[in-house]
Amino acid sequence: MTDEKTGKRRLRSQDWFDNRDHIDMAAIYLERFMNYGITPEELRSGKPVIGIAQSGSDLTPCNRHHVDLAKRVRDGIRDAGGIPIEFPTHPIFENCKRPTAALDRNLAYLGLVEILYGYPLDGVVLTTGCDKTTPSALMAASTVDIPAIVLSGGPMLDGWNEGDLVGSGTVIWRSRRKLAAGTIDDEQFLKAAMDSAPSIGHCNTMGTASTMNALAEALGMSLTGCAAIPAPYRERGQMAYRTGRRAVELVLDDIRPSHILSREAFLNAIRVNSAIGGSTNAQPHLMAMAKHAGVALTPEDWQVHGYDIPLLADVQPAGRFLGERFHRAGGVPAIMRELLDAGKLDGRCPTVTGRTMVENLEGRAATDREVIRPYGEPLKERAGFLVLKGNLFDFAIMKTSVISAEFRARYLSEPGREGIFEGRAVVFDGSEDYHKRINDPALDIDERTILVIRGAGPLGWPGSAEVVNMQPPDHLLKRGITSLPTIGDGRQSGTADSPSILNASPESAAGGGLAWLRTGDTIRIDLEKGCCDMLVDAAEIERRKADGIPKVPADATPWQRIYRQTVTQLADGAVIEGAADFRKIAETPPRH
Ligand code: FES
Ligand code: MG
Repeated sequence: MTDEKTGKRRLRSQDWFDNRDHIDMAAIYLERFMNYGITPEELRSGKPVIGIAQSGSDLTPCNRHHVDLAKRVRDGIRDAGGIPIEFPTHPIFENCKRPTAALDRNLAYLGLVEILYGYPLDGVVLTTGCDKTTPSALMAASTVDIPAIVLSGGPMLDGWNEGDLVGSGTVIWRSRRKLAAGTIDDEQFLKAAMDSAPSIGHCNTMGTASTMNALAEALGMSLTGCAAIPAPYRERGQMAYRTGRRAVELVLDDIRPSHILSREAFLNAIRVNSAIGGSTNAQPHLMAMAKHAGVALTPEDWQVHGYDIPLLADVQPAGRFLGERFHRAGGVPAIMRELLDAGKLDGRCPTVTGRTMVENLEGRAATDREVIRPYGEPLKERAGFLVLKGNLFDFAIMKTSVISAEFRARYLSEPGREGIFEGRAVVFDGSEDYHKRINDPALDIDERTILVIRGAGPLGWPGSAEVVNMQPPDHLLKRGITSLPTIGDGRQSGTADSPSILNASPESAAGGGLAWLRTGDTIRIDLEKGCCDMLVDAAEIERRKADGIPKVPADATPWQRIYRQTVTQLADGAVIEGAADFRKIAETPPRH
């Protein structure tokens, strides 16, 4: 709609501030903003009002420096002729929120939808970092569909401990094995953990945070090179400024998430995830983002489009290095450039820069071949997620890039049966049960055992917990056996280096096959065929159904109840059932 006064396209904020039929309402909307220096004339002038969705706080320490970066964003917005309005989002701190931060992704999504829809905002800068802050923000931006741009906070500096690079999260999984084996003590454990986190920023490994920020860039939702700049670097502040400027231009050009988030963009993101050795959490989050973007992405797309892509980034947990080296090597654009040149990327996708992806990647070749490998000389072939199914679940994934040579030799290399493993299941109901019993000699766990955890999915936990990367019992660790095959209906941390079969859907609490598995059953995993089954006959499985679904904890908060009543399975992104019916809601202004 064109404004008669200015001859320009009328912005949605003008419906609040410049509504000539309702001066009484405009007055009420305007007056309180004056407290921090905005004038009525300015707010009524048709300048774009740009929200800064502030995800940083003391409760989200991984994103906390966005509180400072926002000043640079404001400068950028102002200099481009816009008006910045900063507001908080629901905090999500991956490591600290109980019973799991995953419970809060959909809550933060709901909150942000209400803010973007119900307030006079023409566009938004989405500040992201810690794991779920990125998907929740992009999910909301799609539902509302106002111009939006992602500003990552960036990873921490590289961590060093006793001469070794130590990466966030990954150091925990590795140190706890050493602790159990008795090679380090509690103090050394704590010191290694502290050393892995030497500065502001999110996890410096290619865990879920760095993965999701990389995928936001791969989708075309942030400026080129944004994801990998370490948080304390000078370039991070410059990126914040340029992102603010660009947000204003996006509004003027009316470039919205729906113009960028196509199926091709999501397939690009799946491929990038393989090449960076990205987190298994990318699977539910990307599915959720696609759902809200109205894009048909199937669970099988991970196998079809992602599995054959090789591992190019030598970054922990799949490789050796951390965020700083990855950034200096060229970061996400250099990875995408490799994929593009190998014909594995759709370069035509539009992006928030106003240019196509192929234009963004001009001159972005990797500058450090030790860290970012050429497509033809990868660290590992076929580094994507293997999609598995069978009578235990309809869908689960396995991150093959972290399968070590030792694990492959022990479990997957029997002559004539390569990729096939049969083992005896030991089943745990939730992580309390695992911790209580893992060292119980009566379980008779040896290197042929498959550890199974259930009750850890969206309904069971609730929220779906990162517990599937279960550590073997101490007696095996002392013998140098650092991982056993594991299966579960929960997730695992993106920083974990365990080749677990996870995100199993439907979960046990929803009556999936895992509910009917018993300790002592044989499980057969066939990686070539993509099958995972309990070797139990159908009649026996039917008999076991009379025992009922294993119990899970009761709802502890109102949101837990609402979450359980509405959530879908991990295969589908664990979104709020029905929420994806709401699309582009900003096209119709809310009543006043
Ligand atoms: Fe927040 Fe890893 S815990 S980014
Ligand atoms: Mg995590």
